Amino acid sequence: MGDENRLILAAAEARKFAYAPYSHFAVGAALQTKDGGIYTGCNIESASYSPTNCAERTALFKAVSEGERRFRRIAIVGGRQGRPPEDECPPCGVCRQALREFCDPAAFLVILASGSGGFRVFTLEQLLPQAFGPENLNG
Ligand code: THU
Repeated sequence: MGDENRLILAAAEARKFAYAPYSHFAVGAALQTKDGGIYTGCNIESASYSPTNCAERTALFKAVSEGERRFRRIAIVGGRQGRPPEDECPPCGVCRQALREFCDPAAFLVILASGSGGFRVFTLEQLLPQAFGPENLNG
C-alpha cells in the first residue's frame, strides 16, 4: 500500500466519528507531522451552526495543542454521511488559511481522496495562492 493510502485510511477512520447531524456531510482528516506522527480529526457541527469545526482544523488544533508545529501533509476524506465518499472533499478557505499559519505553502501537501480509491495531491500554495501569512505582519 502506498504511504498516501495509509494516511487516507487514517482520515477515513476519523470520518467515522464525524458529528454532522445538520449537513449529513461527514469528513475525516489525517495530518502528518514532519516526524511522521499522525493527528486525526472529524467535523463537529453545532445546533447554532457557526461554531462548526471542520475535520482539518480539528486535526490541526489537536496537533498544535499537543506541541506540534511542523507538518508535512494532510489527507482528507469526505462525503454524505453513511455512504462511501463519491468525490474529492477540498478543504474550505478557512481551513486553508489555518494550515497556512503553520505550513510552508510550497512544501506542504494536501491529499484529496477520490471516491474511486484514487487521490490527487496539491501543494498548499496551489490551493491558497498569494496568501496572507505570519510573515506579512513582520514587514
Ligand atoms: N467540512 C469539513 O469538515 N471539511 C471540509 O473540507 C469541507 C466541509 C464540513 C463542515 C460541515 O460540518 C460539513 O462539512 C458541511 O459543510
